[in-house]
Amino acid sequence: IFNSVEQLPADALFGIKQRLSQDPRPVKVDLGIGAYRDDSGKPWVLPSVREAEEVIRQDPSYNHEYLGISGLTALIQGAAKVLFGEDSEALAEGRVVSTQSLSGTGALHVAARFFSKFCGDRVVYLSDPTWANHNAIFETMGLKTATYPYWDAASKSLNLTGYLEAIKSAPKGSVFVLHACAHNPTGLDPDRSQWTSILDAIIEREHIVLFDSAYQGFASGDLDRDAFAVRLGLKKLADVSPVVVCQSFAKNVGMYGERAGCFHLVLPRQDASVDVGSIKSAVLSQLNKITRSELSNPPAYGAKIVATVLNTPRLTEQWHKDMVTMSSRIIKMRHELRDHLVKLNTPGNWDHIVNQTGMFSYTGLHPEMVKRLEKEHAVYLVSSGRASIAGLNSGNVEYVAKAINEVVNY
Ligand code: LMR
Repeated sequence: IFNSVEQLPADALFGIKQRLSQDPRPVKVDLGIGAYRDDSGKPWVLPSVREAEEVIRQDPSYNHEYLGISGLTALIQGAAKVLFGEDSEALAEGRVVSTQSLSGTGALHVAARFFSKFCGDRVVYLSDPTWANHNAIFETMGLKTATYPYWDAASKSLNLTGYLEAIKSAPKGSVFVLHACAHNPTGLDPDRSQWTSILDAIIEREHIVLFDSAYQGFASGDLDRDAFAVRLGLKKLADVSPVVVCQSFAKNVGMYGERAGCFHLVLPRQDASVDVGSIKSAVLSQLNKITRSELSNPPAYGAKIVATVLNTPRLTEQWHKDMVTMSSRIIKMRHELRDHLVKLNTPGNWDHIVNQTGMFSYTGLHPEMVKRLEKEHAVYLVSSGRASIAGLNSGNVEYVAKAINEVVNY
């Protein structure tokens, strides 16, 4: 019965990883998947994580027992605090329902399943372009997706007019997926006043906001500054509508393979006559049903590490330093790549590489150039021209610039 199963193409991002690992050439550069590398091109275990692992191992009650269905309370509480802020009104007023998820993808999946059950007729709006997996996650749950303009290719800047237009013309009550910071793939975030306009327009049309927070700390190196959009959204929507936040610790704690993350549903303030406690309990019961039927209960090890980092002041402080280490090395590589391209007289303006933020640069290289980079130079990036700047280091940045120069001039 499975003889006619259709062969699908390799995943756009993991396919790169596979091709690269099979490439026998001695010099290869991985600018594909968004994963931090140190200056020698190696994965980096954060010093705060190394210490947290030590703390966990020394704990006399160390074990590998199941977590509860909604996950590790210390993780969930710490996660909500780092994203919403110590002084969060939503937390103080008890309006947040959270559950541990399989990193950001798992949180988005929980959101998609929850929406499909309780508001399945709403269209989910994604930025154009967006992270390749967004479409798949929502469409797999039978939700209809549409796009809102985001990137203006000609000016390499935000198409705010198109963005606001799309918010206005979307059916009332649609779901808008917003990248909390360090937009993937463009590395371009709205500034503070643009965020205000976007959220005001969303409120006017009674849309639901879903923040995808996968890169907190990667835009500025400062976890609070990078939470600006989420916190502004919670403030503005506090009396209006629920907000969903999907949170990943893959990048900012370097927990890529451990799949640590959280799904949060922030309820709006209600009249005194409404029993918020019973709404929260009902929502949590539904979230638990999703988790129980799909993974029984979330993975514990990564959750314990992140919880230890978030709840041990000394380790939290170290983590903040680790974020600065990662984000500043990426910024340095942005500058070196741009400077090499300028020195080589590579046609075009390359300032966007330094102006963009987070892990990625939307280089503007065309798919044929990307193909040639891979074929002739073993430099791997996504066909859209997205390059993971974290894959650059002092040993390969000049080589990459020369390769880009060659394909642009070809
Ligand atoms: C990426 O965009 O490269 C990362 O988010 C990795 C992934 O899971 O796609």
